[in-house]
Amino acid sequence: MTDTGGAGLFLSFEGIDGAGKSSHIEALAEALRGAGRRVVLTREPGGTPLAERLRELALHEAMDPLTEALLMFAARRDHLATVIEPALARGDVVLCDRFTDATFAYQGGGRGFDLGVLGQLERWVQSVQALPAGRLRQPDLTLWFDLAPEVAAQRLAAARVPDRFEAQPLEFFRRVAAGYAQRQAGDPGRFARIEADQPREAVRAQALAAVQARGWLA
Ligand code: TYD
Repeated sequence: MTDTGGAGLFLSFEGIDGAGKSSHIEALAEALRGAGRRVVLTREPGGTPLAERLRELALHEAMDPLTEALLMFAARRDHLATVIEPALARGDVVLCDRFTDATFAYQGGGRGFDLGVLGQLERWVQSVQALPAGRLRQPDLTLWFDLAPEVAAQRLAAARVPDRFEAQPLEFFRRVAAGYAQRQAGDPGRFARIEADQPREAVRAQALAAVQARGWLA
């Protein structure tokens, strides 16, 4: 068994719709459990009963961009307070399918919403008791599944009934992808960029390698 330490770890998973992150989150959870860690698998928007209700609204009801951004952050606050922070305090590993980078990419990049306002909301929502004033809760590592929007669109076309985001045109996803690139440029040490256009096994290996490189898996 590998010693991955007792401290809580917070990993987020990002990418445009169709980038294929979901199955890799499962694989990583299994690897971490194999290394003796307790793993909490969760997602945003969602992860709590209240936040899952907000998710339903955000994904399926028409609304203006500010309402959409506020719903994302309201869901996030409940999720942080009731699931993420308690898990980190117990020393668990939290694997979160999307977090705040998605808000900057989708609401900021995709919808064109004011990044300054998103930054303000980020500061309010991610100020938590466990951290000194001025420090925000952020993922320890963000695995960014980077895939050309054209390829992602082809993959999505074969999938299920689209939600409000998945139904957007290619141009929207180009802006979302640019939004992710911008977030990475602003905090490069937190990100691992995964080349998601490769075969599934190769993508999985990249995801594992990113966690191994931090010393959290042997
Ligand atoms: P997704 O992880 O794609 O769920 P699923 O695989 O079940 O469709 O997330 C749902 C959508 O929510 C996705 O299109 C991105 C969007 N989203 C935002 O627009 N802003 C956010 O802050 C978050 C967390 C997600």
